[in-house]
Amino acid sequence: MTNPGVASAADSIESRFRARTKKSRELAQRASSVFPDGVGRAGMPNELYPVFVDRASGQYLYDVDGNRLLDMSNGHSALPLGHSPAPVVAAIANQLARGIGFFLMEEGEIRLAEMLRQRVPSMEKIRFTASGTEATMFAVRAARAFTGRKLFARAEGSYHGMHDMMCSGMGMNVGTPWMDSGDNPVSNGVLPSVREGVVFLPFNDIEASRKVIAAHAADLAAVIIEPMLGGGGGIPAEREYLLALRELCDRHKIVLILDEMVTIGLARGGAQEYFGVRADLTTTGKLVGGGMPMGVFGGRADIMSLMNRDASGVLRMFHTGTWNGHPLAMAAGIAQLEMLTPEKFAYLGELGETMRKKVRALATEMRVAVQVTGVQHFSAFHYTPQPVRNRRDALRANPKLSSRVSFSLLSQGFYMLGQRTNLSTAITHQDIDEFISALAVAFEEAGAAGTAA
Ligand SMILES: Cc1ncc(COP(=O)(O)O)c(C=O)c1O
Repeated sequence: MTNPGVASAADSIESRFRARTKKSRELAQRASSVFPDGVGRAGMPNELYPVFVDRASGQYLYDVDGNRLLDMSNGHSALPLGHSPAPVVAAIANQLARGIGFFLMEEGEIRLAEMLRQRVPSMEKIRFTASGTEATMFAVRAARAFTGRKLFARAEGSYHGMHDMMCSGMGMNVGTPWMDSGDNPVSNGVLPSVREGVVFLPFNDIEASRKVIAAHAADLAAVIIEPMLGGGGGIPAEREYLLALRELCDRHKIVLILDEMVTIGLARGGAQEYFGVRADLTTTGKLVGGGMPMGVFGGRADIMSLMNRDASGVLRMFHTGTWNGHPLAMAAGIAQLEMLTPEKFAYLGELGETMRKKVRALATEMRVAVQVTGVQHFSAFHYTPQPVRNRRDALRANPKLSSRVSFSLLSQGFYMLGQRTNLSTAITHQDIDEFISALAVAFEEAGAAGTAA
């Protein structure tokens, strides 16, 4: 028998959402005639139908029905300064006035590459791509070309984009059916031979990872790791784990790739500065493009020299793409990096820590069994009484509670990316307090209150 109290609470979330999103509902109907599943990409909040955005500014998104949503996701972390900071908008406008795209080299590419190398010194040589997906594809390819080995290792539940090599073992966002995909590709259409090119590391488990790496050492071209699992649950790596991977890669001459798509936002020098670990190759993007689409890979000069022409003009590794180094992304990225001063990172860290403390205090008060993981401005909520250090732990959490809480928050005007938040400097302490009040309602409505012993 269903609990009538919970059913009516769920109804109140849905009716509140429906009442405030009439235009979104109409657009969703149109969208469903042109898009599979009615959405342009998986991973949108889509409990009943997606919310359609009209515009964004500062800490807010404004939907087509005129609702204001506090954006706790911020372009999947690409916008740590919030929406449309004036210097970034001005840089894009200035570039637009000079031309939309040149398809020849321009100085902005050099400037952004220099800024990145200054912040992440292990990126001795750099190439831009059009997306993060391409960046991880080229990085693993470079590691294979450099070592002449076949395999690469990745963490269980990691996310490195959607090319064939990266479709296995994602475990994807905890809370979606993809989480049950285990080591299998999350998508049909991936050749078994591609799946056979990858082995999996239990995240944050040094001994188990050591065994996997040792067993395959002679065949391993690369270990690719997110210094914080993103889609796998917003779970930071422990520093000792990253250092152990560094040592194992050195010992077995394996290329260590740090996928800093998100963690470039941890500090000026990304996770490499934050954790004090050095990559052989780094992949990044998101905030580096200032909100424009792009990706980057770069690292040791000897590996990147695969893309140098030899005396007869031959490349050992071919890398190109129509949109690579797009001037609008370069201009926006330069402007955003310039704005991201140490003070901004300090604010983001303090805001994130304050939010985690307040969520934990509320959870204790309302007896909610929830673990709040994260560092700096990145946080994730796992509805389980057990500590969460990796994807296996995260899978013990209750995904339904997670999606109901986020849906209740959305219906109250707070947008979380599933179970995760990526704050921005536009968000104030008062915004966090308002979020905590809405979260109290969400805990109650979703049935999370009273789940702790
Ligand atoms: C760690 C990580 N790697 C790779 C990607 C793929 O980047 P993109 O979406 O730009 O292709 C993402 C995107 O979420 C990511 O978080």
